[in-house]
Amino acid sequence: MKKNILITGGAGFIGSHVVRLFVNQYPDYQIINLDALTYAGNLENLRDIADKPNYTFEKADICDIEAVERIFAQYRPEGVIHLAAESHVDRSITDPLSFVRTNVLGTVNLLNAFKNIWKGNFEGKRFYHVSTDEVFGSLGETGFFTESTPYDPQSPYSASKASSDHFVRAYANTYHMPVVISNCSNNYGPNHFPEKLIPLVIHNIKNRKPIPVYGKGDNVRDWLYVIDHARAIDVIFHQGNLGETYNIGGLNEKQNIEVVRTLCRIMDEKLGRQPGESEQLISFVTDRPGHDHRYAIDASKLTGTLPWKPSVTFEEGIEKTVVWYLENEEWLNNVTSGEYLKYYETMYSGR
Ligand code: NAD
Ligand code: TYD
Repeated sequence: MKKNILITGGAGFIGSHVVRLFVNQYPDYQIINLDALTYAGNLENLRDIADKPNYTFEKADICDIEAVERIFAQYRPEGVIHLAAESHVDRSITDPLSFVRTNVLGTVNLLNAFKNIWKGNFEGKRFYHVSTDEVFGSLGETGFFTESTPYDPQSPYSASKASSDHFVRAYANTYHMPVVISNCSNNYGPNHFPEKLIPLVIHNIKNRKPIPVYGKGDNVRDWLYVIDHARAIDVIFHQGNLGETYNIGGLNEKQNIEVVRTLCRIMDEKLGRQPGESEQLISFVTDRPGHDHRYAIDASKLTGTLPWKPSVTFEEGIEKTVVWYLENEEWLNNVTSGEYLKYYETMYSGR
């Protein structure tokens, strides 16, 4: 009998890399990708594995109790890896309720469904909640987030993720659910939706559009290549201790302006433009309200206790990312034009 593993948000940026890794690496698992296909979900991300026999797609909203119960009753997943979320801070500022709905209510729905099918018999089962370092708030010039840093979320996005983390721990404490949580720093890489900094900058440089840098560009993010995040999720899902939290990060702190200048330099080279040409597109714009100053992860618990370390440096990862976007022009065009929304209809009509 194959083990059923349910991955939520598998059509999104990080989720698609996790689904691909699991489908390719574990032929004995049946991977069920549960995704509502919001604007951030794109099945084209999974075109290469869509026909594999150990992959199943279920279009459903994690807030839809009936649909979630039906899917859990049908597949009885022994493992859940929960990534589905509203994920963009700027959108959370204009529409906080949709973040409460998906990130808090949706997570509690999944916890309930998992609890209800296993009815306390949790032997060999695992609910893995994927979270963010943004729950810890903002750092000053020094220090790192560790697993024991107190939660201090500062945006509606991070507050909703913090709330979901608390619910996951509450279910472990109250119902003895076998949970594990990870909090990761900013990801970058292929299939990143171009509302986030790195793909947006690549898109704008390519099209000679202004590059909006918030405030002075001196905010610091700690960047991790998305495939390294997917590898960490694999290791923590299989070997992480139940009831524990792991911070994931790549020790790659960069000011936003540094990231933008690096992208300008690489893009000038790749596109055969004059050195310095793309930097002229940089445009400092009004800062994000409540903009967190600095994130930096201490991942020593993960690197010290489990077999994981980043496989690429920031310099290697950012170069690979630019190359991917330049070679996958169609993906970027489909996403920016909204064309990708038709993919589900073509692929799954009649289901
Ligand atoms: P994303 O926005 O690219 O993808 C989210 C996916 O969830 C999409 O496929 C979307 O269709 C799906 N989804 C959204 N609402 C849903 C709902 N109600 N029901 C079912 N599916 C729904 O996000 P991402 O950047 O891939 O992030 C994935 C997870 O990792 C999130 O939980 C996020 O908080 C966390 N995370 C992200 C980062 C990062 O840098 N992107 C860093 C750390 C943690
Ligand atoms: P983002 O990719 O939205 O991730 P997060 O807010 O979750 O860290 O933003 C990364 C950093 O880049 C953040 O400090 C905000 C900044 N930023 C800009 O300066 N300009 C932009 O157009 C965007 C989208 C982000």
